[in-house]
Amino acid sequence: MAYLTWLLAILHVHKALCGETLWDTTVRLSETMTLECVYPLTDNLTQVEWTKNIGTKTVRIAVYNPNHNMHIEPNYLHRVHFRNSTVGFRNMSLSFYNASEADIGTYSCLFHAFPRGPWEKKIKVVWSESFEITASPDRYLSAEPGQDVTLSCQLQRTWPVQQVIWEKVQPHRVDILASCNLSQGTRYTSKYLRRTWNNCSQGSMKSALIIPHVAATDSGLYRCRSEASMEINETFVIRLIVTDGGTNKHFILPIFGGLASLLLVILIIIIIILYSRKRRRQVRTPLKDPRDKQNKKF
Ligand SMILES: *[C@@H]1O[C@H](CO)[C@@H](O)[C@H](O)[C@H]1NC(C)=O
Ligand SMILES: *[C@@H]1O[C@H](CO)[C@@H](O)[C@H](O)[C@H]1NC(C)=O
Ligand SMILES: *[C@@H]1O[C@H](CO)[C@@H](O)[C@H](O)[C@H]1NC(C)=O
Ligand SMILES: *[C@@H]1O[C@H](CO)[C@@H](O)[C@H](O)[C@H]1NC(C)=O
Ligand SMILES: *[C@@H]1O[C@H](CO)[C@@H](O)[C@H](O)[C@H]1NC(C)=O
Ligand SMILES: *[C@@H]1O[C@H](CO)[C@@H](O)[C@H](O)[C@H]1NC(C)=O
Ligand SMILES: *[C@@H]1O[C@H](CO)[C@@H](O)[C@H](O)[C@H]1NC(C)=O
Repeated sequence: MAYLTWLLAILHVHKALCGETLWDTTVRLSETMTLECVYPLTDNLTQVEWTKNIGTKTVRIAVYNPNHNMHIEPNYLHRVHFRNSTVGFRNMSLSFYNASEADIGTYSCLFHAFPRGPWEKKIKVVWSESFEITASPDRYLSAEPGQDVTLSCQLQRTWPVQQVIWEKVQPHRVDILASCNLSQGTRYTSKYLRRTWNNCSQGSMKSALIIPHVAATDSGLYRCRSEASMEINETFVIRLIVTDGGTNKHFILPIFGGLASLLLVILIIIIIILYSRKRRRQVRTPLKDPRDKQNKKF
């Protein structure tokens, strides 16, 4: 038994050293924040637990087992709550009533599933204004719902890229969608609910993120970070716009509609000016030229 524990400890250290991503999602601290954790697979779940890492210490927050009641540690009892669903505890998102700076840190949500085994999501809560970033206006891609979208990012040629990380950036949270160590060719399995694919091929000058069957909710900012080392890195941001049927028209119409009405107004003004000039000339001509009247007489 002691041997097994020792082996597990070694395995754990090994995993930590082998460039494993240290967290899956970064969330901005807010009073009523929710740390989303949803089990994505269909395996039968036996237990789930939430813990928080404080330095090297791990503090338990809550444990749920379908055969028992939800157990929330006294320190957290009136500070957190879960979604109230007694059947199928796949969504074990942890919500705070009144979070404060003391709640900054790294959280872990660990599902025990049968037969697949453990599934863990790590969430880092940070103090930050907003994760808002901007994409230059010409860097966007529009797609129709249901399409398969490929976002691609050109990699540097001047320095050897070691790692490429794709993220979805929202003002209150950043989710890692793919992380690829190019020298090892190892891939990380994203805990983001939306499945995406990353072509993690060595020696490639491009990194692609494939989002199958996009929906309107996939719209937003995507960031590609390529790193050679901690100091040498480059980021590329692209906006994905998934038109929601009519949404496309709503987006385009105000601009083109505005332009069209402006053109129409200008056109009407020109016509009115031309028409009134012509009329003035027509009114004046008979007076100046008496031949007309003479002609009419004949
Ligand atoms: C990628 O893998 C190589 C080989 O194991 C390792 O030396 C390197 O630190 C890893 N890079 C990152 C960014 O994790
Ligand atoms: C999950 O449990 C149900 C009933 O206990 C069983 O019928 C089903 O086969 C199980 N599924 C898996 C993937 O083990
Ligand atoms: C999970 O529950 C949280 C609230 O507890 C909710 O905000 C979130 O939308 C839920 N996610 C899913 C996928 O049901
Ligand atoms: C959860 O639902 C049960 C049954 O519907 C109810 O008795 C209980 O008060 C609810 N708990 C919360 C925290 O809403
Ligand atoms: C939230 O907590 C802070 C201190 O941690 C306290 O000053 C504030 O009154 C609390 N707000 C609510 C609504 O409980
Ligand atoms: C991955 O990229 C390589 C080189 O660009 C290409 O040959 C291969 O077909 C790609 N694989 C997928 C699944 O897109
Ligand atoms: C990226 O590189 C800059 C210097 O060029 C450095 O200040 C910054 O910390 C790096 N960022 C990351 C995430 O490594």
